[in-house]
Amino acid sequence: MLGKVIIILVTFLLQCALSGSAVTFQTPDVLTISYIKKDPNFYKYCKQQLKNVVGIRDEGISNVSCQALCYSANDDPPRSFSNKKDNGGDFDKWARSKEYRGYIHIPSFSVSCDAKGYISSDPKDPDYSDQHNPTQNPEKVVNIERNPYGYTKEYTPYIIYSSADIYTNDATFNGIRWSKIKDNTCLSIFDARASRLSTIARYIQYFLLKYDAPFIYAKVYMTVCCNRQVSVTVHRTVFPQTSLYINGTKVSEQAQTELGKFILSGGKPAKDFKIDEDGNWIIKHIKELIKNFSLSADGHGNLAPYGQDLTWNGKA
Ligand SMILES: *[C@@H]1O[C@H](CO)[C@@H](O)[C@H](O)[C@H]1NC(C)=O
Ligand SMILES: *[C@@H]1O[C@H](CO)[C@@H](O)[C@H](O)[C@H]1NC(C)=O
Ligand SMILES: *[C@@H]1O[C@H](CO)[C@@H](O)[C@H](O)[C@H]1NC(C)=O
Repeated sequence: MLGKVIIILVTFLLQCALSGSAVTFQTPDVLTISYIKKDPNFYKYCKQQLKNVVGIRDEGISNVSCQALCYSANDDPPRSFSNKKDNGGDFDKWARSKEYRGYIHIPSFSVSCDAKGYISSDPKDPDYSDQHNPTQNPEKVVNIERNPYGYTKEYTPYIIYSSADIYTNDATFNGIRWSKIKDNTCLSIFDARASRLSTIARYIQYFLLKYDAPFIYAKVYMTVCCNRQVSVTVHRTVFPQTSLYINGTKVSEQAQTELGKFILSGGKPAKDFKIDEDGNWIIKHIKELIKNFSLSADGHGNLAPYGQDLTWNGKA
């Protein structure tokens, strides 16, 4: 009798040790920010890249282009955010400042696992844009005051922020997706955003440098397992600067590099043109020039080359 009880007890304890109990836990809040970093050497670097990599011989064109790029650089985003949720919180205020080229925000969400260590419920899509915007069609989500696709900061000569041109070439590129992986013991979450210069800034670049603007992007690959292991990898373009935040604190940053290669990746326009005028003349006649040359359609063009990833691994 006692032997039987011991066997049952041991079996029970063994089962507990092997399978644990059902758990529900919160994932960390994940945020990536893309922005053009202000740097005292950026003007010099830009001119050197235009000359040596892009092959711009006219110093006037090079001066105007690099000045415009320096003016459009962003303020550094904060090193940490204390409130990611509320309208009027520090993250919301920053998002409404429009001082970025794009961001991806995957708020903390709950994951439930059964006693055997399998994902037991599909998480609800986190509402990363704002409470009023669904996440299913992010390319249709355009909140002019706060937009994860970012803004082009233009100096006209006062500063304005124009909405970026959203990548629509590949309908499946932008947005969030979920799946269960590794025999249902982990969740895979993917979110991506691609956009480029506002239409008017893109035309100005096109006439100055004879290259179309490429699309920048960030792709977040997040894995959350029932053993609470979390990994985040951000695949991003060489330009601009990209930061990764976990629970509101910056954990990693990759520098903006290879500006020349980035510009070349936009590609030459289909229709060739020659303008023997300086940058100021081009800006003055921009509307007429847009009419005269057929340029690539909004949303359609090349993606910029990818650069160094950002990664984070930890426990939920
Ligand atoms: C992130 O915040 C959650 C609570 O929202 C907490 O459970 C978790 O431990 C934090 N993770 C890290 C890596 O700071
Ligand atoms: C370009 O700017 C430099 C200063 O950065 C100046 O010395 C040079 O004269 C300018 N060239 C033209 C053609 O405007
Ligand atoms: C645009 O094309 C028209 C007609 O060919 C021409 O008269 C005009 O000068 C062009 N404008 C510019 C800014 O090149």
